Amino acid sequence: MKIGIVGASGEVGRMMLLSLEEFNIPVSELRLFASIRSAGQRISYKDRLLLIDNLTEKAMKEKYDYLLFSVGSSVSYRFAPIAAEHGNTVIDNSSAFRRDSAIPLIVPEINGDLIRDYRGIIANPNCSTIQMVLPLAALDREFRLKKVIVSTYQSVSGSGHKGIAELESQEKGSKVNKVYPREIHRNVIPQIADFRSDGYTEEEEKMRFETNKILGRTDILISATTVRVPVCYGHSESVYAEFENEIDFQKAEECLRAMKSVVYLDKEYITPLELKQANNSYVSRLRYGVDRHSLTFWNVGDNVRLGAAVNAVRILVKMMEKANS
Ligand SMILES: NC(=O)c1ccc[n+]([C@@H]2O[C@H](COP(=O)([O-])OP(=O)(O)OC[C@H]3O[C@@H](n4cnc5c(N)ncnc54)[C@H](OP(=O)(O)O)[C@@H]3O)[C@@H](O)[C@H]2O)c1
Repeated sequence: MKIGIVGASGEVGRMMLLSLEEFNIPVSELRLFASIRSAGQRISYKDRLLLIDNLTEKAMKEKYDYLLFSVGSSVSYRFAPIAAEHGNTVIDNSSAFRRDSAIPLIVPEINGDLIRDYRGIIANPNCSTIQMVLPLAALDREFRLKKVIVSTYQSVSGSGHKGIAELESQEKGSKVNKVYPREIHRNVIPQIADFRSDGYTEEEEKMRFETNKILGRTDILISATTVRVPVCYGHSESVYAEFENEIDFQKAEECLRAMKSVVYLDKEYITPLELKQANNSYVSRLRYGVDRHSLTFWNVGDNVRLGAAVNAVRILVKMMEKANS
């Protein structure tokens, strides 16, 4: 298969290369693209060193089996439609197309069937949404989800390479903050992305909108507070969820154990540092909320893997399965 990665030099792009290898994707040709800043550099893939090319419209008009985009939304917005118009399937990590009702927003374990026979642009959800919606989907099927209140503890790699660089330079004594609105070293910042007129941030609105879209609903009430913390990799979330049906606790545990890409820990909890190279959404500290219609839990996932590159590659795998069936 001929695959292209747009944004190959970034945090997510590099993880996409690794994920293609880890998921044994049969790649016959791999093209890498980034901006003029990284064009000419080489990145290793298996035992080879691959050249990064400057992203151009001409390159997007070539034929690929799949194009994986991991660039900012303005770059996706400009280049992904060109690729799609030329018959390519694009799996896009940015927020450019997620709200477009004609474009599927996919977590393969939940709504992967929507991309049966689909060609064109597919949107990969926001990282903090993917890890939360996986356990919620399992519980929703059994108990019907009504309301979610979530607070996140999001790592600096969620802002890409520049987020890690800012934390590391502040750890060495720098007082400069360009990426974050306040110093992130030894601090927590209750703002991810810009504020909207309703007081929520764009990141918080993504969690509300995208969770509903992935679950095929519009009526789930969601209030998120998204917080940046001085952690390099891995997002954590404290989730409180209310359901229409009364919850049998053991049944809830069974649902979580049975859900693909969810690991339910009933005896211990996990922290971002312990994630290692995990591709799952970890649920621990499960307990009833305020009554028998609510649950609360601690949720941890690797934002660059599960929250971006791995979900994108799982979408690709799902499409390959469909093409071969
Ligand atoms: N990091 C996460 O946890 C995460 C999770 C979910 C979704 N996402 C989304 O994934 C996308 C990439 O994020 P990231 O964390 O990988 O960011 P990053 O580390 O900053 O990487 C950005 C990539 O985009 C490339 N790029 C920037 N401007 C470009 C241009 N004009 N033309 C072509 N390439 C350009 C960069 O190339 P150069 O090296 O040439 O600058 C780099 O390869 C973003 O939309 C982000 O919101 C990220």
